[in-house]
Amino acid sequence: MENSFVIKGNICQTKIAKELDLHPCSYVVCVNGISKGIFKVLPQEYVDLPLFDYGDALIFPGMIDLHVHAPQYAFRGMCMDLELMDWLNQYTFPEEEKYENLEYADKAYDLFVNAMKKSSTTRTCIFATRHRFATELLMEKMEKSGLVSYVGKVNMDREASKGLVEESADMSAYVTFGWLNSVKGKFKNTKPILTPRFIPCCTDKLMEELREIQMAYGIPVQSHLSESKGEIEFVKSLRPDNEFYGESYNDYDLFGKNDDINADVKTVMAHCIWSSEEEVNLMLKNGVFVAHCPASNMNLTSGIAPIRKYLNLGLNIGLGSDIAGGHNLSIFRVITETIQVSKLYFRLIDENYKPLVFSEAFYLATKGGGSFFGNVGSFEHGYEFDAVIMDDSVLVHPQKLNLAERMERAVYLSLDEKNIIAKYVAGKQIL
Ligand code: GUN
Ligand code: FE
Repeated sequence: MENSFVIKGNICQTKIAKELDLHPCSYVVCVNGISKGIFKVLPQEYVDLPLFDYGDALIFPGMIDLHVHAPQYAFRGMCMDLELMDWLNQYTFPEEEKYENLEYADKAYDLFVNAMKKSSTTRTCIFATRHRFATELLMEKMEKSGLVSYVGKVNMDREASKGLVEESADMSAYVTFGWLNSVKGKFKNTKPILTPRFIPCCTDKLMEELREIQMAYGIPVQSHLSESKGEIEFVKSLRPDNEFYGESYNDYDLFGKNDDINADVKTVMAHCIWSSEEEVNLMLKNGVFVAHCPASNMNLTSGIAPIRKYLNLGLNIGLGSDIAGGHNLSIFRVITETIQVSKLYFRLIDENYKPLVFSEAFYLATKGGGSFFGNVGSFEHGYEFDAVIMDDSVLVHPQKLNLAERMERAVYLSLDEKNIIAKYVAGKQIL
């Protein structure tokens, strides 16, 4: 059977947010890309499958990056002294303009895809640029990598640099149709996702056309929401009749549900730092996912998202690197930052909202974001088999550490940046 095998090692996961689920020196079985669960003693029915023994290594579920901009990877870690709207206008839009040139896109997207492949991330939701052909090139590269992704050609027909803004709503929609028809059924692991950049960059006419496209193709949606105060003020001036920002997506049935046809519209919104109670309630009602991007929220001085509050309410939440608002692709780092900013939120903003503990942030990075992709983010029976295997012997310690200590330390010290020894996505070994 293809993609059927057993791996052995120290298995670390979170089935629920509140606690770690640790299995020292155990087996996890993969049959046809699907996990059959974790076993201390290998059941007889699996003893004939190939066994890969990773010795004392750590085995984690693959990480999920629920929000990343591929074309911003090349300029990550610079131009970090401005807030969102100025940062977009001065640095980001000019960088994205370059993706009109396929030679540049080819080089830059190679860097991105190679880094993604080597990282601990197995699945991701990606923004490309507004350029159709560069987006298709990125999709081809992602497919070759073996990673699983949603990739979006960005829609933006106002309020951007001349070289980047699309010429009209009709042109944006027309190019989107061309792109969707071209990639339809083309890839196994790489799927299109509708990507209105954010309300400041999308006219009402474009949003109306995207609504039609979403209904015609039934594809999921990704965008940005309530990220910075300047952005929110701008949205208020553009759409004064909306009570809150999220309504501007919901008015076009691009916010979790299409009530007219009683259909789910799988949606992920990045940031949600300043969401009002009404906005949060609608997200909850419609099952909208939050992509929490703490590095970006710090770098662009956007704020701290109240993740404890969202967890208490039961919102769908995953983590995002948000390259290049965020400066690092490692979701291990994002887990750490998630905990750190939740401590600042608690101490400086509202002591009713306790900091996240390690298991909770790990859960968000795996099962939390994973649920956007289905049964993903754990080795429980029936879950798609995504795994990262790491050698933590480089993290020397004078005493023997237990598995919980080793797991936390691997994340805090970003073991994923240099010490991954194997990686599996949907049952296929890609590293
Ligand atoms: N809002 C609209 N576009 C962007 C972007 O590229 N990055 C971030 N962080 N926020 C945005
Ligand atoms: Fe973003």
